[in-house]
Amino acid sequence: MNGVIRAVTIKSINDYGYEVAGIKRGWKGLLAPETDSIRKLSVADVYYILEAGGTILGSSRTNPYKKEGDAALVVENMQEFGIEALIAIGGDDTLGVAKRLHDDFGIRIVGCPKTIDNDLSSTDTTFGYDTAVSIATEAIDRIRTTAKSHERVIVVEIMGRHAGWITWGAGLAGAANVTLIPEIEPDLDAITELFKERAEKGERWGIVAVSEGVTLSEEYIIQTAERDEFGHVRLGGIGETLATEIKERTRIDTRHVVLGHLQRGGTPTAYDRILSTRYGLKAAEAVKNGEWGKMVALRGNEIVTVSLAEATGDTKTVPKNLYEAAATFFG
Ligand code: F6P
Repeated sequence: MNGVIRAVTIKSINDYGYEVAGIKRGWKGLLAPETDSIRKLSVADVYYILEAGGTILGSSRTNPYKKEGDAALVVENMQEFGIEALIAIGGDDTLGVAKRLHDDFGIRIVGCPKTIDNDLSSTDTTFGYDTAVSIATEAIDRIRTTAKSHERVIVVEIMGRHAGWITWGAGLAGAANVTLIPEIEPDLDAITELFKERAEKGERWGIVAVSEGVTLSEEYIIQTAERDEFGHVRLGGIGETLATEIKERTRIDTRHVVLGHLQRGGTPTAYDRILSTRYGLKAAEAVKNGEWGKMVALRGNEIVTVSLAEATGDTKTVPKNLYEAAATFFG
């Protein structure tokens, strides 16, 4: 996100002569402003933030459409702070709010796609995804050391509620023995057979990459049923459940590792720095051109603008043929 903030700020100030303010904590900064919520940004403020992960502005899971009247309050506060146009950086929740504010109140908004999950439908990829896949791949590479030396099957639980993009990518790049994603129903008998066959060949170890959103009995395994403001429960636990199942069925020692927020932080890859910079430059240009209600998106090698309606319509899931490509290497 810092890549976007940096590019928007520098382009808008240097090329368009605009004033740029950063809003802290996302929608929360406009809904319930605190003294530090609106921060004027200069070129110097943002010049060296590209290599830092995350956002200098902070984030929150605040939904101004949760409570009657809150959305209008956001609009009122924008006027009060003299904000003439807004660039909203986020995934489908944040951009869904951006779309509604634009539709309901005519707010001058441009969206910028951000999620490590890579599940936004109208862009080829979102920044953060490449970094998350790289971290998860490295984790698999490192975990394999113990799996082999201690003869264990280690289940690596990776983020992704409805879309298994990170798991798919890390499973493929990290040569996991099995990769399980929410889009494809897991076949426990086949997994058992696979590890039994490996053991017969003297390989009593293995790596399973599994998305947190994979279900064994149509019910999500959750850490807490408490829902955030967008209605999401906190997933987590499939890694442990699967490890227990595999141990019971194969008698091979198993362990599980939950990568969790490790995947969402630290230094971004060069690819993500470049992509977020390109998105930021295009978002600043879209503001200049008055392309309200649009989102910047990657199509092939071009950054284009698409409507927020299109962008927030569907979840982009892993297609069957890509999963099958990964499955070629299971074993
Ligand atoms: O939306 C991105 C995501 O990383 C999901 O993959 C994951 O389920 C969720 O965020 C975790 O959110 P939180 O940090 O609020 O627990």
